[in-house]
Amino acid sequence: MTPSARITGSGSYLPARILSNKDLEQIVDTTEDWIFSRSGIRQRHIAAEDEFTSDLALAASREALQSAGRSASEVDLIVVATTTADQVFPSTACLLQERLGIRGCPAFDVQAVCAGFLYALDVVYRYVATGASQCALVVGAETFSRILNWEDRTTCVLFGDGAGAMVVEASDSPGILSSHIHADGTYKDLLCVPVGVSTAYQEILNGRAYTEMQGKEVFRWAVSALGDAVIEVLTTNGMDKAEIDWLVPHQANIRIIKAIAKRLDLSMDQVVVTIDQHGNTSAASVPLAFDAAVKDGRIQSGDKVIFEAFGGGFTWGSMLVQI
Ligand code: ACO
Repeated sequence: MTPSARITGSGSYLPARILSNKDLEQIVDTTEDWIFSRSGIRQRHIAAEDEFTSDLALAASREALQSAGRSASEVDLIVVATTTADQVFPSTACLLQERLGIRGCPAFDVQAVCAGFLYALDVVYRYVATGASQCALVVGAETFSRILNWEDRTTCVLFGDGAGAMVVEASDSPGILSSHIHADGTYKDLLCVPVGVSTAYQEILNGRAYTEMQGKEVFRWAVSALGDAVIEVLTTNGMDKAEIDWLVPHQANIRIIKAIAKRLDLSMDQVVVTIDQHGNTSAASVPLAFDAAVKDGRIQSGDKVIFEAFGGGFTWGSMLVQI
């Protein structure tokens, strides 16, 4: 029998420093009320100067392993979703592997910006379902504050730093029921950091690799693509909207989240919302939100949960999981 890929543990980490909307009023021409009313964000966490993506990933991973009752030595695959790697290379997954004190298993990064965690979990799902991995560690970790222009009020108010992790194991009981990831590179210019190592290395050295976003177009596209993605996951599984217990969405904008909840006929009580506390943590947002709802007891064993995310590329996806 083909094993299913079950999420057996989760963990998260948020840097200590909190930047409130009020604090942002001192940095750019904005107001507490504008940020909250347009995005649903009240505060975000910002990594310390000497705190890097691998530090965040390590803390979240340790917690996830502990909650799964696994030791690092049992992990046979590490996949890290990040846009903000510590180094050009080695991958953040290799740095994490070394800090977990393990050797030999495959470890690599996946880059799909805000949809990165769903991409990483999709990869892990397929490894586990084909028997290539028995116990995988999948992490979404970002220091997104490092690629923000703190003089651009249209972007810097929206993002934050953090990490979330899951342990995914081969199991006879149901787990990930289906996963659907998509991309459309024709929209590459609507949401991007337009420089990289190959095109403008000096810009990176000078700390001028910033996120640019045409917010309105991205918003419209996100609502449409995510709406289709959650219907795709239901249709694939022959499932009725009423059978869904929880939506764990990417946390980019509360108005996008509400639009997708409406598409699924879900009450907001069935939607895990962390955007008010975390802002948009890119690849970390889905595992951070999932872990919050597991820790406070909302998500229980047996629940059917939809994950969805949308990011630069464009990239997007949805997944149905039985916990
Ligand atoms: N404070 C005050 N005013 C602001 C701010 C700010 N921080 N930012 C923009 N404004 C102004 C604008 O300049 C504009 O002024 P104008 O009308 O005089 O030109 C006005 O507020 C309205 O701006 P809009 O862009 O129309 O605001 P909108 O309601 O579209 O909200 C937002 C903007 C929050 C960015 C929204 O468009 C959004 O959430 N977009 C999608 C983000 C997203 O989903 N990203 C995907 C994932 S991210 C990733 O992958 C990296």
